[in-house]
Amino acid sequence: MVNSRPRVILSAAVSLDGKIATKNKDSALSSGKDKIRFHRLRAKVDAILVGINTVKIDDPLLTVRHARGKNPIRIILDSSGRISPKSKIIKTCHAIPTIIVVSKKAPMKNLARLGKHPLKIIISGQNKINTRKLLQILQKQNIKSILLEGGGTLNWEFIHKGLVDELIVTITPYVVGGKDAMTLVEGNGFSTIANSTKLKLQNIIRQQNEIVLHYYI
Ligand SMILES: NC(=O)c1ccc[n+]([C@@H]2O[C@H](COP(=O)([O-])OP(=O)(O)OC[C@H]3O[C@@H](n4cnc5c(N)ncnc54)[C@H](OP(=O)(O)O)[C@@H]3O)[C@@H](O)[C@H]2O)c1
Repeated sequence: MVNSRPRVILSAAVSLDGKIATKNKDSALSSGKDKIRFHRLRAKVDAILVGINTVKIDDPLLTVRHARGKNPIRIILDSSGRISPKSKIIKTCHAIPTIIVVSKKAPMKNLARLGKHPLKIIISGQNKINTRKLLQILQKQNIKSILLEGGGTLNWEFIHKGLVDELIVTITPYVVGGKDAMTLVEGNGFSTIANSTKLKLQNIIRQQNEIVLHYYI
């Protein structure tokens, strides 16, 4: 198992009550100081990985802008290959290395559309992307560290399969509430605490009005 896959670091900003976005999908939780911190972290990893819903909702660039350093490879998990050509990711893929991961169910027309852009396409899994296999493929492509930047659905996928090695979570000074507001980890959840993921607290940073918790698994 050792070194058969890249090291995966889950990174997120959460409200005090564990939400990563409001019920209206507003996820602007990070302070200026925290942006500098996590952009420094981005510059240290080989790749950033997010789910297609995060791209659809937030339209992120996933680059290093608030710190100095290289842009990591951007990896989007998008089973059907439905990423919009108007997304910032596609618009900038000529300049920033980008991988779109699809499953075998992705329609040919979507693959043909994606093929027009200077990006890499990886096909993994039948209906759903096989994340375990994907990590092995990425390891073979010399991607040794990945920052998993959500959202909640993808966080669950990686957590419950035991594919996360570290969690770095900023607790921001907001209480968001709402049963429909997304939490750090969605999916089915573990049924007992005994079965849930056990963490070892490695470090705590107090950053003005927020704290950054760094856990190892
Ligand atoms: N506060 C923060 O730090 C932070 C960070 C990131 C995101 N967010 C928020 O999180 C929300 C989006 O989260 P989300 O949970 O809806 O979406 P997500 O995790 O970004 O994307 C989930 C989608 O990824 C695709 N996917 C492909 N392979 C998968 C696999 N093996 N397992 C699971 N999903 C797979 C699926 O769509 P297909 O089936 O179409 O492929 C799935 O619906 C947004 O509101 C965003 O603002 C917050």
